[in-house]
Amino acid sequence: VRVCSVVGARPQFVKAFPVSRRLREAHEEVLIHTGQHYDEALSGVFFEELDIPEPDYNLGVGSGDHAPQTAEMMRLLDEVIAEEAPDVVLVYGDTNSTLAAALVAAKREPALAHVEAGLRSGKWSMPEEVNRVLTDHCSDLLLTPAANAAETLRGDNVRGEVVVTGDVMYDAVLAVRDRALDESTPLPVSGIRPDEYVLATVHRAANTDDPDRLAAILDGLAAVDDPVVLPLHPRTEAALHEHGLYDDAAERLRLVDPVGYVAFLRLLADASKVATDSGGVQKEAFYLDTPCVTLREETEWVETVEAGWNVLVGGDADRIAAALTDRSPLPPKPELYGGGDAAGRTVDALESVLGDGSSVAERA
Ligand code: UD1
Ligand code: UDP
Repeated sequence: VRVCSVVGARPQFVKAFPVSRRLREAHEEVLIHTGQHYDEALSGVFFEELDIPEPDYNLGVGSGDHAPQTAEMMRLLDEVIAEEAPDVVLVYGDTNSTLAAALVAAKREPALAHVEAGLRSGKWSMPEEVNRVLTDHCSDLLLTPAANAAETLRGDNVRGEVVVTGDVMYDAVLAVRDRALDESTPLPVSGIRPDEYVLATVHRAANTDDPDRLAAILDGLAAVDDPVVLPLHPRTEAALHEHGLYDDAAERLRLVDPVGYVAFLRLLADASKVATDSGGVQKEAFYLDTPCVTLREETEWVETVEAGWNVLVGGDADRIAAALTDRSPLPPKPELYGGGDAAGRTVDALESVLGDGSSVAERA
């Protein structure tokens, strides 16, 4: 099978690396980076650390408002897809890069396969929700991390074939965990000790764009006695400056630049808790036995909440502080998103559903 994989943002480099490795054992992969993320700390470091091959194309689209950014990605992706003529376009998650590639594939010959299909927040005001729903409806092959997401897709009457593969991010954690947890490597941030700090990440538009909500989140984090390490996403750094909150945040929290994946897993594994609005981090926390406090009202990863390892606290300072200081024992961990072989299952599904080289539309 000839595959064009499209990535563009930090979480997609992590999701793509185990799949890409498996894919290249038996198939041909053309890797396309849209350039949505371009800083070394948000892009280059992942390629270096995870040994991801240099992209065959970097479209260099960069930042912008949703429509112009997505449109520019589509314009450039369309040229590459026409030129490369793959059997399949493979996309990950829910970013604007995902949607742009999905729309381009839907209007051209190749089949579209979506990894992390079927996830929903139920909140249409969230840009990622729009991207997910539309991508799922464009897809010929929908690969889901758990049975629940497959049920959602059946309820949505999607056209494509649904396969439960498990979570490719679990594969990624398993591949890097030993390296990240190597005892001889010091914690990547100075002045903190294992189990005596909280890790935090904040980058959702809903949390960064509203100054009152962002201030309340900072208050909730700062109410914890232990140090709080916050690797700052550039969107959040810009928002802190814009809302006049930066100096106050720098005084009360340990603000650091975004760190690479290996360092991040180490920080996450050794934290007493993590406070986050990230999708990926909620799952990684679960895989690394760190209780998660999610700075949102809802989550796509409902299984982690049901299992008692994740609590939704929204943007309320008191609820954030209470959840971060709660030391109640946690229940035993069930297996939620497969056994860490999702990349292999993804490649198997590509082979069995699309392996004869014809598009799904032709086969139907
Ligand atoms: C994007 C995704 C989000 C994902 C996140 C992962 C969309 C709509 N959003 O959000 O789903 O969770 O990536 O991190 O696709 N910037 C830089 N350097 C960079 C990239 C961005 O400084 O390398 C700054 C720019 O000011 C830019 C802002 O960050 O305007 C936001 O970047 P963008 O890619 O639009 O969205 P994210 O918030 O990163
Ligand atoms: N991550 C990282 N360094 C950081 C913050 C996050 O390597 O400073 C990794 C994290 O381990 C996860 C991914 O980035 O694999 C999550 O990306 P992000 O939170 O930006 O996006 P989301 O998952 O919310 O779409």
